Parts: sequence; C-alpha cells; structure tokens
Amino acid sequence: MSYARRGFGAADVMVFEDKIDLMKSAALPLFKALKENKRPVFGFSTGATFEPFYRYVAENYLKEGCTFKRALSFNLDEYVGLRPTDVDSYHHYMKKNLFSKIDIQSGNTFLPNGTARSPDSEAVRYEKLIEASGGIEIQYLGVGVNGHIGFNEPGTRFTAKTHVARLARSTKEVNSAHLNGPWVPEMAITMGISTILSARRIILIATGESKCKIIKSIADSGVTARIPATALKRHRNVTIMLDSAAAGAL
Ligand code: GLP
Repeated sequence: MSYARRGFGAADVMVFEDKIDLMKSAALPLFKALKENKRPVFGFSTGATFEPFYRYVAENYLKEGCTFKRALSFNLDEYVGLRPTDVDSYHHYMKKNLFSKIDIQSGNTFLPNGTARSPDSEAVRYEKLIEASGGIEIQYLGVGVNGHIGFNEPGTRFTAKTHVARLARSTKEVNSAHLNGPWVPEMAITMGISTILSARRIILIATGESKCKIIKSIADSGVTARIPATALKRHRNVTIMLDSAAAGAL
C-alpha cells in the first residue's frame, strides 16, 4: 500500500496492489464503528466495485466480534420504477450482496422507494429519515466513469439534498451492461451532494482500469460541478482507496 496525496485536497489517498487488502482496509472503520458505537449509521453504495467489499464484510464481521443488530444503513440511491424484488433494483443488490448475509435487522436498512407514487415526496421523506437517524457516520462511495457520485450527474448543484435525478446518457450506457431487465431506467432517487457531504466520514473506493481516467481528472481539477466527485475536496474527512489500476494515471 502506498500514499498518493497530490491533487485530492485534504483527502487521504491510499493505493493498494492487492484488491483484498483494499477491501480489508475499507472495512476496518466499519468494524470499529460496529464495536464502539451504540447505534452506528452507515451509508452504503452499490455497483460492481462494492461486491468484493460486501463479500469481505459478510465473511469477516463475526470473526471480528461484530454485530449489525444495532446498526442502521442508508443507501445512496435507487432507480425510479423498479420494485424491491426486481433483480436490477438496488434493494435486490443489497439483499443479495450484504443484508441476507449479515445479522442486520431488515427494518434498519433503508433505500429510497423507487415505486413511490411521488418520487419527489419520497426524496424529501428519505432525506428527513437520514436526518432523524442523527446522520451518517461513514458513507461508502463509488464513482462513475463520468465522475458521478450516487446519481449526482455532471452539472448537479452541490447544494442538492436527496432528489430525483435524470441519468446521463453515458451512465445509461455503462449501466445497461449490468442490467438484466428489458429496459434501462432513466431516473433515480439519489442522495444529493449536500447529503453526502454531511456524512462525518467518507470512504470512496475505485478499482480497475476503467476508473483511471476519471480518478486522474478528479485529482487534476478544482472543485467543479462538471465532475461531481470533486465536491469531496470540500469535506475534511475523506479517504480515497484505489487499486493500482485505478491509480494508474496519477
Ligand atoms: C452507479 C451508482 C453509483 C456507483 C457507480 C459505479 O451508477 N449509482 O453509486 O458508484 O455507478 O459503479 P461501479 O462500481 O459498477 O463502477
């Protein structure tokens, strides 16, 4: 593991040769919070990046002497129009990759409801729910190849809270390769950048060669709405964890 600090503001940037070592390091603060806090609140992300992370957490939390019984989780986003049982929904992803494998209480796991009659009201309800929990202690984040975090696409205002977002064309193209259903969702309910920045700690994970260009752009750019992930430079407690492929252009 090595450090590459330049370009990321106050963030710690850690580069790992080995992906399992990365997942292990990313899980450490989660295990610590589970052991030390009465009611830990986590912000979770989806995507291919997080599959090995959740596998690592599920396989190791008991060995670490942890329980999720008192934990709450809030996911970043959900597609508008997909039911929790739809295989392409993020509800389904979380159940399959994490919630069914750990002892978290299902009533303590929250994602936006993609089939709410009014997605706008659902976004407001979801934001209030996060606030009422006392706020997110550790927010795990991935990054899109266009720099989106959650579904905050380029151009999104940094002041946005949880809201309904239209997916960028490039996001739909990338996502369609992972979707099983007959149609590619156009909209999602996503935590806003302001919601994300109100987490007390943020851990962003990026792996693979497909992320190396955007990681370099984030490092080289000032804070700009054209690259939503640059908003993280405004947060004081960010760790960016990269494998050597994602860090390849730094
Ligand atoms: C999706 C999600 C993001 C995720 C990103 C990267 O569009 N909304 O939260 O971080 O894409 O996904 P992946 O890890 O599959 O590259």
